[in-house]
Amino acid sequence: MNARILIIEDEARMRRLLELVLREPGYEVQSAADGKAGILLWKKWQPNVVLSDMKMPEMNGLEVLSYRNSNFPDTPFILLTAFGTVETAVAAMKEGAFDYLTKPIDNNLVLELVARALAASAARATENAGIIGSSPIMKKLHQEIAMAAKTTNSVLITGESGTGKELTAKAVHAACSGQDSPFIRVNCPAIPKDLLESELFGHRRGAFTGAIEDRAGAFTAANGGTLFLDEIGDLPLSLQPKLLHAVEQKQVTPVGGTYAQTVHVKIVSATNRDLEGMVNNGEFRQDLYYRLNALQLQMPPLRQRREDIEKLANYFIQAFCHQYNKTPLQLDNTALAVLQTYDWPGNIRELRNIIERGCLQCRGNIFTADLLPTAITRGKTDYQEKNSSEINFNLFGREQELIIKALQECGWNQSRAALKLGITRNTLRYRVKKYGITTIRD
Ligand SMILES: Nc1ncnc2c1ncn2[C@@H]1O[C@H](COP(=O)(O)OP(=O)(O)OP(=O)(O)O)[C@@H](O)[C@H]1O
Ligand SMILES: [Mg+2]
Repeated sequence: MNARILIIEDEARMRRLLELVLREPGYEVQSAADGKAGILLWKKWQPNVVLSDMKMPEMNGLEVLSYRNSNFPDTPFILLTAFGTVETAVAAMKEGAFDYLTKPIDNNLVLELVARALAASAARATENAGIIGSSPIMKKLHQEIAMAAKTTNSVLITGESGTGKELTAKAVHAACSGQDSPFIRVNCPAIPKDLLESELFGHRRGAFTGAIEDRAGAFTAANGGTLFLDEIGDLPLSLQPKLLHAVEQKQVTPVGGTYAQTVHVKIVSATNRDLEGMVNNGEFRQDLYYRLNALQLQMPPLRQRREDIEKLANYFIQAFCHQYNKTPLQLDNTALAVLQTYDWPGNIRELRNIIERGCLQCRGNIFTADLLPTAITRGKTDYQEKNSSEINFNLFGREQELIIKALQECGWNQSRAALKLGITRNTLRYRVKKYGITTIRD
């Protein structure tokens, strides 16, 4: 679906020019000659981006912006101003305009700005879908999700267990098809092998024992929306040609059926297995792999984005305190440092579970390190840093991490820990105070 752009501009020549420029790359464009007509169209047509002139009779651009702030705060707004009226442009930016353009309009600049506005609102939509994280690696992912939503090709989401593959699939769906269209998940390993074909493509009455009536499959149920094939690495080889055909031809034939039905679905698959390796070993069809992997989103493990741990932990604390009717807890520095030091083999799911447990156990107002399982407070478990890209290069975090590790290994005896770290006891005491590290008792 093409993005919808609304132009509100009283000067007819300018309106036509903008329409032409924006229609060129395929946007749907509508325009209004004054603020009031613009607002009517806005309500009816729900544009993705609005460009509005500043100086217009009756309602000026800032008034249109104020309407947007109360009614459609998520729609990016671009103000068109006359040359030399920077003050108005600054006021508009303060009021939440995405950006402004000065007349005469530079065609390329308009296109660039609209594209940026669309990408920014798509990124916001994925954040609204509950994907927390603002580390550089997550910012890139937010952009990639926006891209994945735009393409009609299939999307493959890879990553370790608990990294947020399903959440990301839902975000792609929300950003591309909208909330009203279907999102159908098929968890491949959970369905018995001989029922999977019928689950995906449906069956006709009498196709096999137990098929007492016609039944639509997941493809048909997902028509107009997204089909999420979870754990696709577990799809039996025997079913792969039929899936390839369905994805390529956009047609499905139910088990026992003779006619194919056309379906329009976005295919999003996920796996924590090495599909490429499986292709090399002959365990997964190469042609299907290429088809499903037109665009790949790689979910980073949590240990590669430790800067997000604080935000995630606080997000889960808020969520669980709300769920369990508790006053919001405050995460103390030591608990946070411990969370930031651990390697999280179970990734975000593990963090979420540990925070939930802590919230339930907590009696006071502070989430302290005592609420964390000993496996975590004792430091890294058996996870080995596999390659240099996974090493924490943040010196500040690294120092804190080493101090806590040394203290943990020395049973929180500062003299022994100082010896281990090769610093004096006073220096260690100073650092412990600086980082707000408090003793943890198991
Ligand atoms: N970035 C995130 N922000 C907030 N919550 C997240 C994030 N990523 C994952 N979660 C939460 O972590 C849990 C695990 O996520 P999800 O089920 O999407 O992971 P997965 O990669 O599909 O895991 P698996 O491979 O085990 O199926 C869910 O409760 C999800 O809501
Ligand atoms: Mg999953």
